[in-house]
Amino acid sequence: MSQEASKLVMGIDTSCDETSVAILQNGDDLLSNVISSQIKIHQAFGGVVPELASRSHIENIQFVVDQALREASCSLKDLSAIAVTTSPGLIGCLLVGLSYAKSLAYSLNIPYTAVHHLKGHLFSPFLGKDLRYPFLGLVVSGGHTAYYDVKSFKDIEILGHTVDDAAGEAYDKVAKLVGLPYPGGPVIDKLARLGNPDRFKFTRARVKKGKEYLSFSGLKTAVSLLIRDYKELNQLDEISPESEFLKDLAASFQKEVVDCLIEKALYFMDLKKSSLLAVSGGVAMNSLLRSRLSEVDADVLIASPRLCMDNGGMIAYVGSKQVERGEFANFDLNAFASKPLW
Ligand code: KG4
Ligand code: ZN
Repeated sequence: MSQEASKLVMGIDTSCDETSVAILQNGDDLLSNVISSQIKIHQAFGGVVPELASRSHIENIQFVVDQALREASCSLKDLSAIAVTTSPGLIGCLLVGLSYAKSLAYSLNIPYTAVHHLKGHLFSPFLGKDLRYPFLGLVVSGGHTAYYDVKSFKDIEILGHTVDDAAGEAYDKVAKLVGLPYPGGPVIDKLARLGNPDRFKFTRARVKKGKEYLSFSGLKTAVSLLIRDYKELNQLDEISPESEFLKDLAASFQKEVVDCLIEKALYFMDLKKSSLLAVSGGVAMNSLLRSRLSEVDADVLIASPRLCMDNGGMIAYVGSKQVERGEFANFDLNAFASKPLW
């Protein structure tokens, strides 16, 4: 493929348990976005095992790069820059992507740029669409649940966040409690569609720190107590996924999580007089959240499912904006397990 006039940015994300590489053309045309999931490796342990995750990234990254180039019908020499996630994430995993990106940039003699993973999520609803400011961003994933006031590419203020578990983490922990596989989000979402969301009522956590904050760990404890009581009452060791109890529990839990997320989004939209809400992250794949967001009286953009889970496409998107601004990284740059957005 001839790429004379176009700029091709490769985006790499190895921050957690997905090895992902994407090719983005001219800042908004996603030619490929290959995601190699490690779910099968970690499922036996009920969660991500960091050492296994980083080893698996090392084994996979070259194959994923090759496939991303193949699907985009281009080759390494066509690339104009590389964007890579350098924080936050599992440190061993981040280092695999960063070392790979540095070597590739050095050998091709092209620049590379360091992307904050959450910034990738935050802007992902706009890929292929018009990017407008200001907007209220909700990033809701397995590691984060936070609201941002985004006034420009550089002017981003965090408004509030969970003080304990992220929403996706709550899904994963509740799934584990009832013997459902990791990751819990998709399985609970599926079960919830078959259950009665009004059967169990949970007391909404009020965080002492202030109205801007959320908490999901109390909800997880409430679910765990409910399960304990149910097992004792029915003299059971395990709860069947086919039981009405589990379907109703999944539906009631899901309703509570989604209510919390929407309530807080409306609160911030009102506070900031925002008329545009952009929602991203793995939990943005949730069917109830997506349908409830469609009823919100505002302009709502939700990342497309392929861009919700961790992916190189969102990294290439933010990375290409950084490249346009001349924000390049040096070869002595390190990765960071945690780092604020700004
Ligand atoms: O964004 P992501 O791929 O990784 C992180 O950066 O954390 O999000 C993964 C999280 C997991 O906790 C998973 O259970 C959750 O997203 N998730 C869902 C759904 N699909 C994935 N949660 C609720 N409903 C879903 N359909
Ligand atoms: Zn993520």
